[in-house]
Amino acid sequence: VTSLVRPDLRLRESWAAAVAEFVDTGSTPHGYGLWDFEPLDVTEEGCRKIVDHLLAQADPATELPGDWVHCTYYWITDGDPSEVDSGEFVGYLALRHSLSPWLLEEGGHIGYSVRPSRRREGHASRALALAVRRAGELGIERALVTCDDDNEASRRTIERCGGVYEDTRNGKRRYWVVTADRAPEKE
Ligand SMILES: CC(C)(COP(=O)(O)OP(=O)(O)OC[C@H]1O[C@@H](n2cnc3c(N)ncnc32)[C@H](O)[C@@H]1OP(=O)(O)O)[C@@H](O)C(=O)NCCC(=O)NCCS
Repeated sequence: VTSLVRPDLRLRESWAAAVAEFVDTGSTPHGYGLWDFEPLDVTEEGCRKIVDHLLAQADPATELPGDWVHCTYYWITDGDPSEVDSGEFVGYLALRHSLSPWLLEEGGHIGYSVRPSRRREGHASRALALAVRRAGELGIERALVTCDDDNEASRRTIERCGGVYEDTRNGKRRYWVVTADRAPEKE
């Protein structure tokens, strides 16, 4: 079952395997929030720092540089969200709490990526649907989700989730997803 959980040290082993996969396949992770941590240190100590950093980004008390906005980072897992230990890391998802001028033009509220070996199993579609619900809980009535013009997988993911196309700006297709009429999340 596809779940969204907060970054957690207990997922380190499968996360580290996924990190290696992104590198080996030359796939750029989206929605991971770790540009400043490259190359990623997947040791226990490194993972702890990364988890702490990601969790802090959601905290309104955390001061952020420039027009950076607060963001809840999730790790997409295949497993029961109440038993993080038994789940496996399958991807990243970022839920930005507001839109800076750049996010409004190009970045959107939600970014995500699925580890290469677990693609085409529906994880991105289910994770995005869960994230849209979480966006509604944050008071976001319409979530902006964008993708590169030539990213068919992401385009289909967004359209499948009910994204309504607005326009394309700087090569990014921009979609709005209404958060209000979501069915309750299955526990
Ligand atoms: C985009 C991405 C997250 C999709 O993840 P995923 O878990 O494979 O997606 P899903 O299995 O939920 O598939 C969603 C839809 O995309 C389609 N799809 C998936 N991979 C595809 C591909 N390589 N080519 C064409 N369509 C593809 C699926 O068939 C499905 O469409 P459907 O519902 O019409 O059948 C994944 O390919 C990825 O991580 N890419 C790199 C990072 C990235 O581009 N992130 C998005 C930034 S906007």
